[in-house]
Amino acid sequence: MVLKVRKLPFSRLAVMTSGGDAPGMNTALRAVVRAGLSYGLEVYGIERGYSGLLKGELRLLKSHDAGNIMQRGGTVLGTARSEKFKTEEGQAEALAHLQGAGITHMVIIGGNGSLAGGLELQNKGIEVVGVPASIDNDMYGTSMAIGVDTCLNTIVEVIDKIKDTASSHQRAFVVEVMGRHSGYLALMSAMASGAEVAVIPEVKITLGEMALKMKAAFDRGKSHFIVLVAEGAALKSQQVYQYLCEVGHFETRLTIMGHLQRGGSPSAYDRILATQLGNEALECLIEGVSGVMVGKKGEVFTRTPLEQVVKRTSAVNKKVYELIARLS
Ligand code: F6P
Repeated sequence: MVLKVRKLPFSRLAVMTSGGDAPGMNTALRAVVRAGLSYGLEVYGIERGYSGLLKGELRLLKSHDAGNIMQRGGTVLGTARSEKFKTEEGQAEALAHLQGAGITHMVIIGGNGSLAGGLELQNKGIEVVGVPASIDNDMYGTSMAIGVDTCLNTIVEVIDKIKDTASSHQRAFVVEVMGRHSGYLALMSAMASGAEVAVIPEVKITLGEMALKMKAAFDRGKSHFIVLVAEGAALKSQQVYQYLCEVGHFETRLTIMGHLQRGGSPSAYDRILATQLGNEALECLIEGVSGVMVGKKGEVFTRTPLEQVVKRTSAVNKKVYELIARLS
């Protein structure tokens, strides 16, 4: 459906997904494409993030290109992390490709690094709106980024399964989850799965303290002891595993969850969030607002300047850490 709106000050829009993929990126892409088409815009998809942009990999998208993708994990546009785009030379090339295609407005779906790139383009004259998509959930300006809910559900499903085997053997498991700089995934999935300890970058815990918790759990007759370790924590999962093996009490195993956390069909929550934020991004550009990231806090949609988004991160709630300890 094409809406009758006042004449827009632009006619072409580009959209890309960038950085680590996150479930729901396709849903956001669908929303941007279809909302753009509903305003009569020509919508171009940039393939493989900034790497594709540097090679001029743009293609005109039609409504059917956004069909049957909202439920698919990953990103149908492809994604990448580009070192070249970080250079002045790379940015000049990218800008030339956009200008050559007559593109003045752009939606970037991705994490912090991707939106830092967006800020560079904004400063060079392209009107950019960012849509937060990153499983780590450390982006400033939104309570939840797209992909986080699906990822948490995946982790919790895996921990439930690990608990089955752990309890059967009365074992401890050290499970490493993603989170390059943030303990959000480890902390929240520990709360949602009833894990005994979360090792996260934001809270210091020593190996000795963990061993004491393990002994206390063993003495209370617990059938398992689950330690979730964020990959970005100072204590690494391998170290924790080796130490707990040496300490004894429970026989211990190590599981590194890895990239399976990033895949899979987006949850209903992520699909709804991605649809709303994709549409919000379009609304911003139509209203003449750019240089912002759209987000959602509670039921309220927010627009945060990209300058703030790229400089800041959102902190984990340390009360959750205490709650996990109290309830385990
Ligand atoms: O930023 C998302 C994230 O999944 C991090 O949690 C993780 O450290 C990183 O990406 C992994 O990146 P790559 O895809 O390059 O292995």
